[in-house]
Amino acid sequence: MEESIARVLIPQEAIQARVKALGERITHDYQGSDLVLVCVLKGGIVFLADLVRHIDLPLEVEFMAISSYGASTVSSGIVRILMDLETNIEGRDVLIVEDIIDSGRTLQYISQNLITRRPSSLRICTLLDKVPAREIEIPLHYVGFQIPEVFVVGYGLDYAEGYRNLPYIAVLKPEVYG
Ligand code: IMP
Ligand code: MG
Repeated sequence: MEESIARVLIPQEAIQARVKALGERITHDYQGSDLVLVCVLKGGIVFLADLVRHIDLPLEVEFMAISSYGASTVSSGIVRILMDLETNIEGRDVLIVEDIIDSGRTLQYISQNLITRRPSSLRICTLLDKVPAREIEIPLHYVGFQIPEVFVVGYGLDYAEGYRNLPYIAVLKPEVYG
């Protein structure tokens, strides 16, 4: 795996420190709430797993799967729900946990969809915010790191389903994805 990596963008220690800080902020902000974390599969799972262990509150975890890029690195703009929540979120405090916001299309679709179910509140927590790639403005309440417009892998993020298990965020060599 290492020979495909051009450089490490965010080292493991930096991610762990930031995730801990986010968890502490969420703990502070959601006192007395009926908190449901909605993790977007598959990219969000590593972030979610670390984040929940820094949230010192009662909470539920739910998953949603949506269609993604496939093996391409360019946003298709096509978003489809492949797996839906198992619980009713009406009147509850929903926090979406995402790996990365790129164009914003995926999050816009998910947010609009969840809003129709009338949660008491809806916020977004993303590990990475690819700011220069944004096409759709959406408010992000909790952001781990802002990154430039580069394709990254690791810590849940994949290229063609690979590299999710890297403990850091890395930039792939361009020849890997052509
Ligand atoms: P958006 O709809 O353009 O915001 O794309 C969001 C989704 O695209 C994320 O949930 C990721 O699955 C995927 N994605 C966007 N940028 C990257 C990247 O740099 N590496 C891996 N996946 C990415
Ligand atoms: Mg994703």
